[in-house]
Amino acid sequence: MISRSSSNSTRPTKVRLRPISLADIEILRIEKNRNREFFFDKRVISSQEQVRWYRDYLSDPDSTLFVVESGSTPIGCIGYRKRGGIVDVYNVMTWRDAPKVSGVMSRALHLVVERARERFSGLPIEARVLATNPAVGWYERNGFVPFSFKTDTTTPYVVMKLRPPTDLPEESHD
Ligand SMILES: CC(C)(COP(=O)(O)OP(=O)(O)OC[C@H]1O[C@@H](n2cnc3c(N)ncnc32)[C@H](O)[C@@H]1OP(=O)(O)O)[C@@H](O)C(=O)NCCC(=O)NCCS
Repeated sequence: MISRSSSNSTRPTKVRLRPISLADIEILRIEKNRNREFFFDKRVISSQEQVRWYRDYLSDPDSTLFVVESGSTPIGCIGYRKRGGIVDVYNVMTWRDAPKVSGVMSRALHLVVERARERFSGLPIEARVLATNPAVGWYERNGFVPFSFKTDTTTPYVVMKLRPPTDLPEESHD
Protein backbone atom coordinates (compact mmCIF):
# COMPACT_ATOMS: atom_id res chain seq x y z
CA MET A 1 0.00 0.00 0.00
CA ILE A 2 -0.60 2.81 0.84
CA SER A 3 1.18 3.95 3.84
CA ARG A 4 3.96 6.05 2.41
CA SER A 5 6.99 6.31 4.61
CA SER A 6 8.13 9.81 5.30
CA SER A 7 11.74 8.75 5.84
CA ASN A 8 12.94 10.10 2.48
CA SER A 9 10.41 12.84 2.18
CA THR A 10 10.37 16.56 2.75
CA ARG A 11 7.67 18.62 4.40
CA PRO A 12 5.11 20.08 2.02
CA THR A 13 5.35 23.57 0.62
CA LYS A 14 2.10 25.18 -0.40
CA VAL A 15 -0.71 22.69 -1.01
CA ARG A 16 -3.22 23.73 -3.63
CA LEU A 17 -6.47 22.26 -4.93
CA ARG A 18 -6.96 22.77 -8.66
CA PRO A 19 -10.30 21.71 -10.19
CA ILE A 20 -9.72 19.05 -12.85
CA SER A 21 -9.94 19.85 -16.54
CA LEU A 22 -10.03 17.76 -19.71
CA ALA A 23 -6.21 17.69 -19.72
CA ASP A 24 -6.23 15.72 -16.44
CA ILE A 25 -8.57 12.90 -17.33
CA GLU A 26 -5.96 10.52 -18.74
CA ILE A 27 -3.73 10.65 -15.66
CA LEU A 28 -6.85 10.29 -13.51
CA ARG A 29 -7.79 7.17 -15.49
CA ILE A 30 -4.30 5.67 -15.21
CA GLU A 31 -4.12 6.26 -11.47
CA LYS A 32 -7.64 4.99 -10.85
CA ASN A 33 -6.77 1.79 -12.70
CA ARG A 34 -3.57 1.42 -10.70
CA ASN A 35 -5.45 1.88 -7.43
CA ARG A 36 -8.58 -0.02 -8.32
CA GLU A 37 -8.09 -2.59 -5.54
CA PHE A 38 -8.97 0.23 -3.11
CA PHE A 39 -12.22 1.27 -4.78
CA PHE A 40 -15.68 -0.23 -5.18
CA ASP A 41 -15.52 -0.50 -8.96
CA LYS A 42 -12.62 -2.77 -9.82
CA ARG A 43 -13.03 -2.70 -13.59
CA VAL A 44 -10.20 -1.36 -15.72
CA ILE A 45 -11.46 1.92 -17.15
CA SER A 46 -10.92 2.51 -20.87
CA SER A 47 -10.19 5.91 -22.42
CA GLN A 48 -13.66 5.98 -23.95
CA GLU A 49 -15.30 5.24 -20.61
CA GLN A 50 -13.21 7.98 -19.04
CA VAL A 51 -14.50 10.53 -21.55
CA ARG A 52 -18.07 9.46 -20.76
CA TRP A 53 -17.31 9.72 -17.07
CA TYR A 54 -15.95 13.24 -17.56
CA ARG A 55 -19.08 14.29 -19.46
CA ASP A 56 -21.23 13.04 -16.59
CA TYR A 57 -18.95 14.75 -14.08
CA LEU A 58 -19.34 18.09 -15.87
CA SER A 59 -23.10 17.77 -15.77
CA ASP A 60 -23.12 17.26 -11.99
CA PRO A 61 -23.03 20.68 -10.27
CA ASP A 62 -22.73 19.07 -6.84
CA SER A 63 -19.45 17.27 -7.51
CA THR A 64 -15.95 18.75 -7.63
CA LEU A 65 -12.77 16.80 -8.19
CA PHE A 66 -9.39 18.42 -7.62
CA VAL A 67 -5.84 17.71 -8.62
CA VAL A 68 -3.75 18.14 -5.46
CA GLU A 69 -0.59 20.13 -6.07
CA SER A 70 2.40 20.63 -3.82
CA GLY A 71 3.96 23.79 -5.09
CA SER A 72 3.26 23.29 -8.78
CA THR A 73 3.77 19.50 -8.70
CA PRO A 74 0.69 17.27 -9.04
CA ILE A 75 0.65 14.76 -6.18
CA GLY A 76 -2.80 13.20 -6.33
CA CYS A 77 -6.50 13.89 -6.46
CA ILE A 78 -9.43 14.33 -4.11
CA GLY A 79 -13.09 15.15 -4.61
CA TYR A 80 -16.23 16.02 -2.74
CA ARG A 81 -19.85 15.75 -3.77
CA LYS A 82 -23.28 16.22 -2.28
CA ARG A 83 -25.18 12.98 -2.23
CA GLY A 84 -28.60 13.09 -0.59
CA GLY A 85 -28.17 14.63 2.82
CA ILE A 86 -24.42 14.18 3.13
CA VAL A 87 -21.15 15.32 1.58
CA ASP A 88 -19.14 12.38 0.26
CA VAL A 89 -15.35 12.73 0.01
CA TYR A 90 -14.32 10.60 -2.95
CA ASN A 91 -11.57 9.64 -5.39
CA VAL A 92 -8.82 10.17 -2.86
CA MET A 93 -5.49 9.01 -4.29
CA THR A 94 -1.82 9.78 -4.03
CA TRP A 95 -0.43 9.23 -7.50
CA ARG A 96 2.13 6.46 -7.67
CA ASP A 97 4.80 8.29 -9.66
CA ALA A 98 4.45 11.56 -7.78
CA PRO A 99 7.28 12.66 -5.51
CA LYS A 100 6.64 11.59 -1.93
CA VAL A 101 5.90 14.63 0.15
CA SER A 102 4.43 13.53 3.45
CA GLY A 103 1.34 15.35 4.65
CA VAL A 104 0.18 16.79 1.32
CA MET A 105 -2.88 14.58 1.00
CA SER A 106 -3.81 15.18 4.64
CA ARG A 107 -3.59 18.92 4.05
CA ALA A 108 -5.66 18.52 0.88
CA LEU A 109 -8.30 16.61 2.84
CA HIS A 110 -8.51 19.46 5.35
CA LEU A 111 -8.86 21.99 2.51
CA VAL A 112 -11.66 19.93 0.96
CA VAL A 113 -13.39 19.75 4.32
CA GLU A 114 -13.19 23.56 4.60
CA ARG A 115 -14.73 23.97 1.15
CA ALA A 116 -17.43 21.39 1.84
CA ARG A 117 -18.38 23.19 5.04
CA GLU A 118 -18.62 26.52 3.24
CA ARG A 119 -20.58 25.19 0.30
CA PHE A 120 -22.80 22.60 1.95
CA SER A 121 -23.04 24.09 5.39
CA GLY A 122 -24.47 21.82 8.04
CA LEU A 123 -24.29 18.58 6.07
CA PRO A 124 -22.34 15.69 7.58
CA ILE A 125 -19.07 14.94 5.79
CA GLU A 126 -18.36 11.27 5.11
CA ALA A 127 -16.13 8.92 3.18
CA ARG A 128 -16.93 5.34 2.19
CA VAL A 129 -13.85 3.18 2.58
CA LEU A 130 -13.50 -0.51 1.79
CA ALA A 131 -13.23 -2.38 5.09
CA THR A 132 -9.95 -3.95 3.94
CA ASN A 133 -8.36 -0.62 3.00
CA PRO A 134 -5.63 0.58 5.39
CA ALA A 135 -6.71 4.10 4.44
CA VAL A 136 -9.29 3.75 7.24
CA GLY A 137 -6.38 4.55 9.57
CA TRP A 138 -5.41 7.56 7.48
CA TYR A 139 -8.93 8.99 7.72
CA GLU A 140 -8.89 8.44 11.48
CA ARG A 141 -5.64 10.40 11.73
CA ASN A 142 -7.40 13.18 9.87
CA GLY A 143 -10.44 13.63 12.07
CA PHE A 144 -12.84 10.95 10.80
CA VAL A 145 -14.34 8.14 12.88
CA PRO A 146 -15.86 4.84 11.75
CA PHE A 147 -19.60 5.50 11.88
CA SER A 148 -21.18 2.38 10.39
CA PHE A 149 -20.24 -0.85 8.70
CA LYS A 150 -22.13 -1.82 5.56
CA THR A 151 -22.01 -4.15 2.59
CA ASP A 152 -22.43 -3.12 -1.03
CA THR A 153 -23.54 -6.33 -2.76
CA THR A 154 -20.63 -8.43 -1.45
CA THR A 155 -18.15 -5.66 -0.58
CA PRO A 156 -17.90 -4.69 3.08
CA TYR A 157 -17.14 -1.02 3.67
CA VAL A 158 -16.91 1.50 6.47
CA VAL A 159 -18.70 4.82 6.50
CA MET A 160 -16.18 7.22 8.01
CA LYS A 161 -17.74 10.39 9.40
CA LEU A 162 -15.91 13.61 10.13
CA ARG A 163 -15.96 14.62 13.77
CA PRO A 164 -17.58 17.97 14.60
CA PRO A 165 -15.26 20.98 14.05
CA THR A 166 -14.54 21.46 17.73
CA ASP A 167 -13.13 17.93 17.83
CA LEU A 168 -10.75 18.38 14.90
CA PRO A 169 -7.05 17.96 15.67
CA GLU A 170 -4.97 21.13 15.69
CA GLU A 171 -3.41 21.86 12.33
CA SER A 172 -0.77 24.35 11.33
CA HIS A 173 -1.65 26.67 8.46
CA ASP A 174 1.15 27.31 6.00
C1 LIG B 1 -4.92 7.21 1.50
C2 LIG B 1 -3.81 7.96 0.79
C3 LIG B 1 -4.43 9.01 -0.13
C4 LIG B 1 -2.93 8.64 1.84
O1 LIG B 1 -1.92 9.31 1.13
P1 LIG B 1 -0.54 9.76 1.78
O2 LIG B 1 0.24 10.31 0.65
O3 LIG B 1 0.03 8.69 2.61
O4 LIG B 1 -1.08 10.91 2.74
P2 LIG B 1 -0.29 11.96 3.63
O5 LIG B 1 1.07 12.17 3.06
O6 LIG B 1 -1.14 13.13 3.83
O7 LIG B 1 -0.22 11.22 5.03
C5 LIG B 1 0.95 10.73 5.43
C6 LIG B 1 0.86 10.43 6.92
O8 LIG B 1 -0.24 9.57 7.15
C7 LIG B 1 0.28 8.31 7.60
N1 LIG B 1 -0.49 7.26 6.98
C8 LIG B 1 -0.51 6.92 5.68
N2 LIG B 1 -1.32 5.87 5.50
C9 LIG B 1 -1.80 5.54 6.73
C10 LIG B 1 -2.69 4.55 7.22
N3 LIG B 1 -3.20 3.67 6.41
N4 LIG B 1 -2.97 4.53 8.53
C11 LIG B 1 -2.43 5.42 9.37
N5 LIG B 1 -1.57 6.39 8.98
C12 LIG B 1 -1.29 6.45 7.67
C13 LIG B 1 1.73 8.29 7.16
O9 LIG B 1 2.51 7.45 7.98
C14 LIG B 1 2.13 9.74 7.31
O10 LIG B 1 2.38 10.08 8.65
P3 LIG B 1 3.74 10.87 9.05
O11 LIG B 1 3.73 12.15 8.23
O12 LIG B 1 3.60 11.10 10.51
O13 LIG B 1 4.84 9.96 8.67
C15 LIG B 1 -2.90 7.00 -0.04
O14 LIG B 1 -2.42 6.00 0.79
C16 LIG B 1 -3.56 6.36 -1.24
O15 LIG B 1 -3.56 6.93 -2.34
N6 LIG B 1 -4.10 5.14 -1.08
C17 LIG B 1 -4.65 4.39 -2.21
C18 LIG B 1 -6.00 4.91 -2.62
C19 LIG B 1 -6.98 4.86 -1.48
O16 LIG B 1 -7.08 3.90 -0.75
N7 LIG B 1 -7.77 5.94 -1.34
C20 LIG B 1 -8.83 6.02 -0.37
C21 LIG B 1 -10.05 5.41 -0.93
S1 LIG B 1 -11.42 5.63 0.18
